[in-house]
Amino acid sequence: METIIKKIDRNNIDQESIEQAGSILKQGGLVAFPTETVYGLGANALDEEAAKKTYAAKGRPSDNPLIVHIARLEDLKEIVTEIPEIVQDIADHFWPGPLTMIFYKNDKVPLGTTGGLDTVAVRMPDDEIARKLILAGGGYISAPSANTSGRPSPTTAQHVADDLSGKIEMILDGGSVDIGVESTILDLTVNPPMILRPGAITKEMLEEVAGEISVDETLISENSTKAPKAPGMKYRHYAPKADLIIVEGEPDESIKAIKQIAYEQVRLGYKVGIIATNESIDQYTTGMIKSIGSRENEKTVARNLYKVLREFDEEEVSYIYSEAFPEAGIGTAVMNRLGKAAGHHVLQASDITRLQKYRRIVFVSNSDNCRAPIAAVLLRRQPLLQEYQILSRGMIVLFPEPLNPRAEELLKAHDIVLERFETSALDEKILGEDTLVLTMQESQKQKILSEYPDAGDVYTLGEYVGNMQEIASVYGQTEEQYEEMYKLIQENVVKLAERLNKEAKNKCQTYT
Ligand code: TXA
Ligand code: MG
Repeated sequence: METIIKKIDRNNIDQESIEQAGSILKQGGLVAFPTETVYGLGANALDEEAAKKTYAAKGRPSDNPLIVHIARLEDLKEIVTEIPEIVQDIADHFWPGPLTMIFYKNDKVPLGTTGGLDTVAVRMPDDEIARKLILAGGGYISAPSANTSGRPSPTTAQHVADDLSGKIEMILDGGSVDIGVESTILDLTVNPPMILRPGAITKEMLEEVAGEISVDETLISENSTKAPKAPGMKYRHYAPKADLIIVEGEPDESIKAIKQIAYEQVRLGYKVGIIATNESIDQYTTGMIKSIGSRENEKTVARNLYKVLREFDEEEVSYIYSEAFPEAGIGTAVMNRLGKAAGHHVLQASDITRLQKYRRIVFVSNSDNCRAPIAAVLLRRQPLLQEYQILSRGMIVLFPEPLNPRAEELLKAHDIVLERFETSALDEKILGEDTLVLTMQESQKQKILSEYPDAGDVYTLGEYVGNMQEIASVYGQTEEQYEEMYKLIQENVVKLAERLNKEAKNKCQTYT
């Protein structure tokens, strides 16, 4: 089947396209369309055969019921047996919008649509294209998310086409959706009403209008042995192809942990994706890094969630590591979807960060123009099991200078070019618990210890690797002496890498 894709201008909706799509629906065909939450796969909800086609196109288990979409509140009473009093207020506040309500169904709704249940889920979407299509298609349009079952829900028409092209009659392309996660599902067949799936309409928002609201316990406790009341919530859903792992903790701690794991996994040869935020993206160094949105505006995180997961699928990464988000407001829905996509694979950032003692290694010489930068560049070339920021600093640097020309020559003789190097003075700001300071000589070490009592671990390079020879300055001396100094640094640096790696070993590979 050739899938027709029609672009629809939201500001000037082409009624002819809507009529065409509506008549496909009336004839029992399938049309994907935008809603404010995610794209839906529309079919006539009152036609059992159309429901079967929906399940087939999505590859969805047929015990997973569909949501019936309506465009007018007065249409609700035609398909349910009873409307609890509170529904009027809830509908006044949240319909049209990202809220689905569950009622007892009447005979008009076939069991094929409700997955054999005697209840029916009903939603009135806010999207203008969706509303026009529902009316053109007969008023009752079942619409699951328009993805292949198990994949992340579609937030653009392209996502729909990627999954369902050739399997459905038509896609209405109304651009990117606004919200990005599926509607909140509220079950009104129980008292108090119960949230079966979190979405943009939060528990707090509902309580303000409807009083007490309960939450399906399977949403709260991962270990619940009960089946979720919304059958669809039991599937490992929304999942990307890669292993997705959520790293929980304070944002700073999580960033460190994810950096640490990504470095390790990339070193082992895996392709790694990182779900970062606008605030953190610059801090990551290894892996394929994508921002999901801004922590200051969590709506953007919801909006981009599925898109980012799909992008990582295209990149064929093996692992995706994601920062976690506070479970408040739309964050509850974001974490619910992320958790399901991850199969609830969650790591505690602090469990990982405590496995790495040093994150920064600073070599210190007198003027940072020869010995220290040579040590730094040589260490950067060692195969290190963990990632370190490797720096060089001088005890006395009054203004930034380039590398000493003799040092530059020396490095060149070893095929090393230090680009854009400038000397810098040691600064208190880079000292601390996670910094290992390695000086060339005892004199620099003593000076640092007396000037910066909180410096953390300070050793001479030789001392740290069990080689008591100091690395003295060769300023103004012969080429041979420069070469000897280089060799000594190289020897020490190789031992340093061995020591760092020995300490890192056995600690890595516990990350996944
Ligand atoms: O935002 C949305 O709700 C989107 C857009 C397209 O409107 N639709 C959507 O549909 O997310 P779907 O099929 O992907 O998810 C429907 C969820 C499933 O978890 C299903 O089990 C649950 O709603 N559901 C449907 N009818 C139900 C019922 N009678 N009782 C309990 N859960 C029900
Ligand atoms: Mg779905």
